[in-house]
Amino acid sequence: MKTIEWKDGKVFLIDQRKLPLKYEIINCSSYQEVAEAIKKMKIRGAPAIGVAAAFGIALAAYSSKADTYKEFSLDMEKAKKCLALTRPTAVNLFWALERMTNLINIKKDVDLFELKDIILQEAKDIAREDIEINKGMGRYGASLIKDGDNILTHCNAGALATVDHGTALGVIRTAFKEGKKIHVYVDETRPVLQGARLTAWELMQEKIPFTLIIDNMAGFLMSQKKINLIIVGADRIARNGDVVNKIGTYSLSVLARENKVPFYVAAPISTIDVSLSSGKEIPIEERNPKEITHILGKQIAPTGVKVFNPSFDLTHHRYVEAIITEKGIIRKPFERNIKLVFSR
Ligand code: MRU
Repeated sequence: MKTIEWKDGKVFLIDQRKLPLKYEIINCSSYQEVAEAIKKMKIRGAPAIGVAAAFGIALAAYSSKADTYKEFSLDMEKAKKCLALTRPTAVNLFWALERMTNLINIKKDVDLFELKDIILQEAKDIAREDIEINKGMGRYGASLIKDGDNILTHCNAGALATVDHGTALGVIRTAFKEGKKIHVYVDETRPVLQGARLTAWELMQEKIPFTLIIDNMAGFLMSQKKINLIIVGADRIARNGDVVNKIGTYSLSVLARENKVPFYVAAPISTIDVSLSSGKEIPIEERNPKEITHILGKQIAPTGVKVFNPSFDLTHHRYVEAIITEKGIIRKPFERNIKLVFSR
């Protein structure tokens, strides 16, 4: 099973809140259910929520009772707004919604029955392309990994954060499949524990050697020369190369610089938001304080404690060695080289 799939008029996805203790597939038959699944992080990871949003639009299209294109496009706008309000940071969500609505705008003159099938096909294309893109990124990124390397990764940028294969973890997966003898250090990634729950689960299935560590051990390991490189994913990258990714990424990048460890970001081109001149413009999601005061539903902090829970942080581009994409490895100066990639 892929992370997310369309089958028999419904969207099927692995419920990531339950992993690794329970492997459960859930299905959504309305766009509102897809929106809820994204909001509650049953599906998460930048590319995966983009694909979910695209399938959400397809569900909205098939459930629309509109007789005219005008009524239909109003239904689609409503669905788009609902899906767009789920999570603010990962740009892939908005990228996929834009791609879907642009198509609907272009196909004004197509019969509504036919248009619904065209919309579903576009969502399926986004899902299929995601796997190809990740494999391409994997091939480029694997060239940066040497036999014997110890690689640190943060959060989950694996198959579960995409349709399949993954971005940062896709690079690691490709290097391993190429026969490189590697070992991965996995940050547990407080507070939602995507590293301990999801990345560890994926690596275990693939039999890729790894060690789980708590987030604040990474600096110690780097100082002991136990880490050769760091690869993380991204939720949004500005056109100057600033990266927003899971909270804790910035600290890793600074520690990497101090310890002369190269810090790489692996992300599809759709994660680069060229409309933004710097990462300061990227909205950072704040999540429920309960993610910090509770672990697996059990309260661990005093009742009424004040909590700050930003889900992402901003890494200045000066700390990024290179950005691994499906179109190649983008090096500095990022602003110029990102522009070149977009103009090709
Ligand atoms: O809050 P999440 O779990 O959706 O955050 C995910 C991340 O920060 C990933 O590193 C990022 O989306 C890249 S995934 C290919």
